[in-house]
Amino acid sequence: MKKSGKNPWFDKWAALAKEKGYPARSVFKLKEIQEKFQIIKPGFKVLDLGASPGSWSQFVCEVVGKEGKVVGVDLEPVKFHSRLFTFLQKDVFDLDKRDFEELGFTEFDVILSDMAPKTTGIEDRDHLRSVELVLKALELCKEFLKKGGSAVVKIFDGPELPRVRKEFEKIFGSVKIFRPKATRKGSKELFLIGLNKK
Ligand SMILES: C[S@@+](CC[C@H](N)C(=O)[O-])C[C@H]1O[C@@H](n2cnc3c(N)ncnc32)[C@H](O)[C@@H]1O
Repeated sequence: MKKSGKNPWFDKWAALAKEKGYPARSVFKLKEIQEKFQIIKPGFKVLDLGASPGSWSQFVCEVVGKEGKVVGVDLEPVKFHSRLFTFLQKDVFDLDKRDFEELGFTEFDVILSDMAPKTTGIEDRDHLRSVELVLKALELCKEFLKKGGSAVVKIFDGPELPRVRKEFEKIFGSVKIFRPKATRKGSKELFLIGLNKK
């Protein structure tokens, strides 16, 4: 596998994603989480927040199979289509119970969030904007995640992490913090894994 000399973000994970037909390298982070925690199972209904361009949703469709369903939400359009996949192009802060009800969903087995704010390079600001997205994902877990269900939520590390973790501990039986190998060097990105919703 050759590295591209032109794009500084093109690394072995990006090359592998291209080779395997996924629209983004981020798929390998979810694959690693899935290998370790076995969160997604065949037949599951999964909500994927921050789904564009679609590599997580594509992978989740492979795992849930023909009895499963995946709903993706993002401000931006997706590059992935499947009869198992429904996409809502929306701001997550504008999501409403009716959005899911109209699609025939009242709850999900798993909620994923790879949402990230547009980064400014100012670490504290990026962290706080990421925390806002994480807390929104957690609010959606409270409302739409099944009892016993699990969540994977991306956060940019920073001083609010212990407080956010405590919020997760209020609703999940077990909470882990995980940094996949495919995470870019120097990135502040971590994943909160909430298992077994109370
Ligand atoms: C790292 S990308 C997700 C990549 C995706 N998991 C994949 O594998 O293809 C983060 C996404 O979060 C989305 N996002 C950020 N803020 C959002 C919001 N308020 N509502 C919905 N999506 C949002 C961005 O538009 C962006 O597409």
